[in-house]
Amino acid sequence: MDNTGGGIAITGCGSAVPKAILTNHHLAQMVETSDEWIHTRTGMSQRHIASPAESLSQLSAVAAKKAIAMAGLSPKDIHLIVLATSTPDDLFGSACKIQGLIGASNAVAFDLTAACSGFVFALITAAQFVRTGTYENTLVIGADLLSRWLDWSDRSSCVLFGDGAGAIVCQQIPNGDRLLGFQMNSRGSQNHCLNLNYQHNSRALIDGIVSQQGTYQPITMNGKEVYRFAVAQVPEAIEKTMFHANLTAEDLDWLLLHQANHRIMDAVAKRLGIPPAKILSNIAEHGNTSAASIPLALDAAIRSGQVKSGDKIAVSGFGAGLTWASAIFEWG
Ligand code: ACO
Repeated sequence: MDNTGGGIAITGCGSAVPKAILTNHHLAQMVETSDEWIHTRTGMSQRHIASPAESLSQLSAVAAKKAIAMAGLSPKDIHLIVLATSTPDDLFGSACKIQGLIGASNAVAFDLTAACSGFVFALITAAQFVRTGTYENTLVIGADLLSRWLDWSDRSSCVLFGDGAGAIVCQQIPNGDRLLGFQMNSRGSQNHCLNLNYQHNSRALIDGIVSQQGTYQPITMNGKEVYRFAVAQVPEAIEKTMFHANLTAEDLDWLLLHQANHRIMDAVAKRLGIPPAKILSNIAEHGNTSAASIPLALDAAIRSGQVKSGDKIAVSGFGAGLTWASAIFEWG
């Protein structure tokens, strides 16, 4: 570890998705919906769904290894792992399991929960440790298997989500800082808009003492409220981040938003004056993968050569909490 602090560079990325693909046409056989409705309202055509044999930890480990290899490091070089997820394999957390799976024996690892904003929250959290010089090489993972927490008879929510994992390596560099700005927000007064709530189930232990046993309810969402919130707040967060970074919308090469709805992406880009050609999106193939959505789309854009070294990317996550956050960085 180097305690001198320094700038940050994002030097590697990777992703992994479950094998099974559930298309809009499949969904139309399950609930009263259609490919046309889903595609027009959301931009989604299909999503990957984890089988009972797949796990969040395994998918995350695959994504993490790819990111570490791209950065030219070995797992033992990693000092910190932050896993952003709302759907760990274990309620005590899955980051340590992933640390074990990839052999990152010199890393401290912990989970962070901020729903669909989780990846951006985790990137900003890891960056603080890098900037202070506490940790030199950090691994940020965004992963979710929301398919396990859906009511598959509720057409208003079950068509929206898919599963996946994405990872980046965030390293200290001696000169410059490629994390150009960031911004984070929470609004508990709208907490009721999007929930995966604990399901109460009273159990009397002895006379006078009643405990709760239970599980979690499927996701509930007020889609219209979340939509309105995202379209209003995300542009403002990105504008604030650009102001802190001393950048204008013209300076940005790419806009990469949480992949919740293509109409939200279009509306945010329009408000910021960013042309549609600069929007990075994989929503058609993956749907909303919650904390995984930004690193999944980033990995695809980098590996396909769409995003090049030195490109400036504005990312923004938003979702349950409610939470929202943005960051601007230069890739590579
Ligand atoms: N198929 C067909 N019809 C449907 C479906 C479906 N899958 N779902 C809803 N409908 C119907 C409704 O019942 C309604 O019918 P009605 O007019 O007869 O009442 C009609 O379609 C319109 O429904 P709306 O809810 O008004 O549809 P809308 O255009 O608002 O789109 C959507 C819904 C896609 C959910 C949108 O509101 C949205 O994307 N919201 C944001 C979600 C989001 O961003 N989530 C991010 C966070 S996720 C996280 O943090 C975990």
